[in-house]
Amino acid sequence: MKWEVVEDYDALSVLAAQLMLSALALKPQMVLGLPTGRTPEGMYAQVVRACHKEYHCFSSVTTFNLDEYVGILPDHPASYGTYMRSRLFDHVDLDPSRRNIPDGLATAIRRDHPRLTLDEALPLECTRYEQAIAGAGLDLTFLGLGTNGHIGFNEPGGSFESRTRVVRLSESTRKANASFFGEDSVPDRAITMGIATILSSKQIIVMASGTKKASIVRRLEQEPASEDLPASSLRRHPDVTVIVDNAAAAELS
Ligand code: GLP
Repeated sequence: MKWEVVEDYDALSVLAAQLMLSALALKPQMVLGLPTGRTPEGMYAQVVRACHKEYHCFSSVTTFNLDEYVGILPDHPASYGTYMRSRLFDHVDLDPSRRNIPDGLATAIRRDHPRLTLDEALPLECTRYEQAIAGAGLDLTFLGLGTNGHIGFNEPGGSFESRTRVVRLSESTRKANASFFGEDSVPDRAITMGIATILSSKQIIVMASGTKKASIVRRLEQEPASEDLPASSLRRHPDVTVIVDNAAAAELS
């Protein structure tokens, strides 16, 4: 793993955006894996600033989001579909047919198979998503880092061999995301790319910012790879860059 320590959140966002934009310049047909959460918001803002629709930066790009909650409508204010539209998709020339987010209601599957319940349809949606990723091949995937070490929604204990599937969210993860849901309670399940799915990406960039991430960043640097720490699976990958700001780097050796 390569480590980049930068001054603050703004510098982290600028660097992550530069890495995305230079990758797109080198390969316009780039297949990107994309995260949500608070950490990448600054990166998306920088990318949007540099890549207004008329510049056609995203005209041949394909994107796959890491995860989505189960059971909420795509236009729910806290869905990752809404997040991606407001932070990136509505502002760049990314073809709607090349934006991929797991469907936490498995709508298309249930339309084709009306007798299936949601719980029966979700595994088929996961297989469809995994196959779409395998068909396209991820070039570059950006990740945030949960305070418990999760990547995507792969919570501690999940297998390093896992593929796209439905997972149950831990209490700490639901608490961390509660502010996005206002009065509504945070769903207890999500669809996430698996760890093996994420590791299939040719290149991976992890971002962590702020003192709240200092302890998990230290664990990522210092603990041996184990399924208790999902992000430690990244040690198995040959091309991972971790970008941290000074606050998140405070406990690094
Ligand atoms: C969320 C997302 C992850 C994200 C993580 C960290 O639950 N599913 O993909 O990386 O938690 O979020 P934040 O950047 O808000 O700390």
